[in-house]
Amino acid sequence: MRQAVARAEAAAPGFEWNVAKASPDRQSLLLYEDFSKSAFPALLRSVSFDADGVPSIIDYSRRDNPPILHRKETLLAPDDPRIPAFAAITRRAEDLGLFKDTKRIGTRANWTAMLAEAGLRVDGPRLVAAGEAAVDVAREKTAISRNGLSQPASLMIRYGMLQPDHELFDYGCGRGDDVATLRANGYSAFGWDPNFLPGGERRPADIVNLGFVINVIEDPHEREETLRAAWGYASRGMAVS
Ligand SMILES: C[S@@+](CC[C@H](N)C(=O)[O-])C[C@H]1O[C@@H](n2cnc3c(N)ncnc32)[C@H](O)[C@@H]1O
Repeated sequence: MRQAVARAEAAAPGFEWNVAKASPDRQSLLLYEDFSKSAFPALLRSVSFDADGVPSIIDYSRRDNPPILHRKETLLAPDDPRIPAFAAITRRAEDLGLFKDTKRIGTRANWTAMLAEAGLRVDGPRLVAAGEAAVDVAREKTAISRNGLSQPASLMIRYGMLQPDHELFDYGCGRGDDVATLRANGYSAFGWDPNFLPGGERRPADIVNLGFVINVIEDPHEREETLRAAWGYASRGMAVS
C-alpha cells in the first residue's frame, strides 16, 4: 500500500489528499472535507491512476451533490482519540438501519434525505435529532483539583486491584492529580485527557482507570464507544466510575 501511495504521489506531485485507495489495477488519492469538521465528509477532489499509471483528476468541490464518506473512524490510526466520537455516529446510523440500502447512501443529497426520514440531521461534525439544536457541552469544566487520590484510585489500592508492580493508565485523567499522587507513592502511572493532556500517552497498561468520564459524555453511543476504547488498553482490569 505504501509503495502504491508513493507511486501515486510521485505521479501527481503537489496533489493534496487525505485518503488513499489501492487495488491491484487502480490507485486513487482522495481529498475529503476535514474529518473533524464534518460527520460525513464530502469528496472534494480525486486523482486516479489506471494500470498504465495515467492520472485522471476530478474536481467535486463545486458539485451540489458530491459523494460522501461514511465510517470515517475506520480510516484512522487505531489509537486516534477521535475514534469513539466518530464510531458513535456510525453506530447511531446503523441502529436505525440507515446503511442497509448501500445504493442510496453514497451521495450527500440522498443521505441527507435518508437522515431526515429517520428524524436526524447533520450539524458539522455531529449527527443530531432533527428538531434539536446541537449543544456544545463544556465537558472539561467537570474536572476538579484534588489533594489526595480519587475514590476509585484509592479503592483499587485498598482492594488489591492496583498493586505496586502494576502500571496504570488514567484515561480521561483531568488535571492529572491521580497520576501525580500515584507516582509520588511509587506507582507507575500515566494519563491522557482530550482537554487537559491531549498529548498524553495512549498505550496498554495493566490497569485502566476511567474515573468520572462516562458521566460527562452526553451521547449514549459515544459513552459505549469510549468504554470500548478504554477497555482496549487494559491488560488486567479497568475501573469505571
Ligand atoms: C469529571 S472529570 C474526571 C477527571 C479525572 N478522571 C478525575 O477523576 O479527576 C471528566 C474528564 O473527562 C474528560 N473527557 C471528556 N470527554 C472525554 C472522552 N471522550 N474521553 C476521555 N476523556 C474525556 C474531560 O476532559 C474531563 O477531564
